Amino acid sequence: MIVLGIESSCDETAAAVVTDGRTPDSHADRRIGDRILADLVAAQLEDHRPYGGVVPEVAARAHLDRLDRLVGQAMRQAGIGFGEIDAVAATGGPGLIGGVIVGVMTGKAIALVHNKPFLAVNHLEGHALTARLTDDCPFPYLLLLVSGGHCQLLVVEGVGRYRRLGSTIDDAAGEAFDKAAKLLGLGYPGGPMIERAASRATKPVQDLPRPMKGRAELNFSFSGLKTALRHKAAEMAPLDDAKRADLAAGFQLAVVESLLDRTRRAVKAARDAYPDLTALVVAGGVAANAALRTELESCAAAAGLRFVAPPQRLCTDNAAMIAWAGLERFRLGERDSLDFAPRPRWPLDENAPKLTGAGVKA
Ligand code: KG4
Ligand code: ZN
Repeated sequence: MIVLGIESSCDETAAAVVTDGRTPDSHADRRIGDRILADLVAAQLEDHRPYGGVVPEVAARAHLDRLDRLVGQAMRQAGIGFGEIDAVAATGGPGLIGGVIVGVMTGKAIALVHNKPFLAVNHLEGHALTARLTDDCPFPYLLLLVSGGHCQLLVVEGVGRYRRLGSTIDDAAGEAFDKAAKLLGLGYPGGPMIERAASRATKPVQDLPRPMKGRAELNFSFSGLKTALRHKAAEMAPLDDAKRADLAAGFQLAVVESLLDRTRRAVKAARDAYPDLTALVVAGGVAANAALRTELESCAAAAGLRFVAPPQRLCTDNAAMIAWAGLERFRLGERDSLDFAPRPRWPLDENAPKLTGAGVKA
């Protein structure tokens, strides 16, 4: 089975072609290279850099500008024609609506012209199922999903079956990295900048808060940490490179510790509810952070769980994960109508309670 995937929900225009590479007995030892036939990402960093963050209107226009060419390139890289694909998958949400519309319309047009089934994929499901594209991770597994727009702990029970254990009550982890970098004058995108600055620290700042640490409910919060960082930076002003590095390292340490505390607790809860839990999986852009990966690896080892972290380029937004999620759904007989309407908001667990700013169930 071969699926073309399209991603355009934020600031990466992406097109990819994946296959499940399923031959009767040997699919278990297939490597990534066997499954991803093409994987192209055109980042829009330079378009947004002058504004210090993603501008939705600029993003939508850039997707419109680049997507059709990128799809053509992906097909050439895969060495196949549209006639040879089994389905077309495009991110249907959640995300910046202008970009999602561009991707969905492109996907629908290709599907219509070439008479192929169309799948509108939940972007978060793309992140959630990446561990199966790369590692054939069996269900159920515990997923820490940490990206620019989301910070959640979920049990992935099956394709389309997600149970949210906790979520952020304010900022997402990646958003916190981005805001902290901006505050410290480290530039955009924040995560990699903070990580790089932190590696140069000599005396990481120690007295920043560890939000939600020890709390029984499995939610996250980062806005207080951001405020604490602002106060600390003001206290240490004027900032030079060395002080910036120490602040960045202190901030990264606080975020990682907070994520770890919540994840450890979630491992226990998930184990109790799912005795057959197979792995701890991390996904989303922040999963590219090396300090976080190391800590999560020991957390999984301590619990006797397998740890799965996709390679960095499959942690940040890409279309291979969208093609794969589409493939998994298609394999189960699912497909979407060409009437599908893009969804700016699309939770993975529709039954999870909505949280208000204080973490109270709304
Ligand atoms: O998944 P993603 O590419 O886009 C969303 O769906 O949000 O995640 C992007 C986020 C950004 O906030 C970025 O700062 C963060 O992931 N990020 C990192 C690192 N690389 C990217 N955060 C921490 N450390 C990194 N190395
Ligand atoms: Zn993402």
